[in-house]
Amino acid sequence: MKIVNVVGARPNFMKMAPLIEAMRAYPFICPLLVHTGQHYDANMSKDFFEDLGLPMPDVSLEVGSGSHAEQTARIMVEFEKVLLRERPDLTLVVGDVNSTIACALTSVKLGIPVAHVEAGLRSYDRTMPEEVNRVLTDAISDFLFTTERGAEVNLRREGISEDRIFFVGNVMIDSLLKHTRQAESSTVLEDLNLAPRGYALMTLHRPSNVDDRSSLERVLLAIASIQVRLPVVWPVHPRTRAKLAECGLGERQGPPAKGNLGLRMVEPQGYLNFLRLMENARLVLTDSGGIQEETTVLGVPCLTMRENTERPVTLEVGPNVLVGTDTGTIVREAMRVLDGQARPGTRPELWDGKAASRIVDILVARLGN
Ligand code: UD1
Repeated sequence: MKIVNVVGARPNFMKMAPLIEAMRAYPFICPLLVHTGQHYDANMSKDFFEDLGLPMPDVSLEVGSGSHAEQTARIMVEFEKVLLRERPDLTLVVGDVNSTIACALTSVKLGIPVAHVEAGLRSYDRTMPEEVNRVLTDAISDFLFTTERGAEVNLRREGISEDRIFFVGNVMIDSLLKHTRQAESSTVLEDLNLAPRGYALMTLHRPSNVDDRSSLERVLLAIASIQVRLPVVWPVHPRTRAKLAECGLGERQGPPAKGNLGLRMVEPQGYLNFLRLMENARLVLTDSGGIQEETTVLGVPCLTMRENTERPVTLEVGPNVLVGTDTGTIVREAMRVLDGQARPGTRPELWDGKAASRIVDILVARLGN
């Protein structure tokens, strides 16, 4: 049984690693790994392969950056050649990045079935490129593997038949639970001179936040207030770094002024370093999708700087709070956490480290027939 597995961008790698491992447990499965090259810097790609023990890709398409149309089209053209050569029984895609929709679409057009892992999440905000990728990928996939109950409801509402939907849990959490022990060996806290629970951790890369100067400024103003209470560590995504430079905002973040603990802008971190940073943070501020889920399992207070989330279970049972990008709201909610009023959370159903083997068992049962 030949399965072509697709990764392209940073959040794909930790979802794919447990799936490849689960496939390898079946001697008759031949898993091929294709990297589209949507992300290509070492700290956005290669470092994750090493940290996660993910095998090197069998095929690298090296498409690189571009407009949405350019990037998606380049992936499709190159991926079609791979499928024609390999003729797999299944293409497996994860998440909601451009590589996800590009490879799913290429595959179904060749009559090769598609499995989508992390299906059915909806922000109901079509200005997000990921939302368009999610809706379209789900519409054409044969196997829809969901992480939370609400995702099934979304898929049913879109007319997707019950026999294509499988609630299996969260493969990203499989990786998290597998690597928490290993992350303890990361020296990132010592390297950055941080005390456990003595800092806040921030990530910011959504186009709606960073491509818009005023929203970027509102967030930075909030951080200016928060870092008076505790240091804020900010691994800066390449998109954000470019926008900061373009807006002339980057150079404001110099050494901490007297009385301030400071904003520490650092390079994007590898998986194990970032996991250690998250686990030990007093507070996480983010606009990422996956980090909302990871902080939910780690029980670390998370303020999500977005107006909506496609992962509502993190609000319902986790410690996640939506704060948007209003400066006052971000600061108020951050202070609540720092004053000991964080919302407690519990772990969502089936986020137990076994999602990947559930998925592979289902694929074997269905495709084996
Ligand atoms: C992509 C995903 C987003 C995901 C994010 C995680 C889409 C539509 N977006 O957004 O869902 O949350 O990855 O990081 O698929 N760049 C580099 N080096 C790299 C990669 C990118 O410098 O290795 C720079 C390039 O200037 C590029 C920009 O970052 O133009 C944005 O990269 P791109 O892959 O287009 O989107 P992301 O913002 O990373």
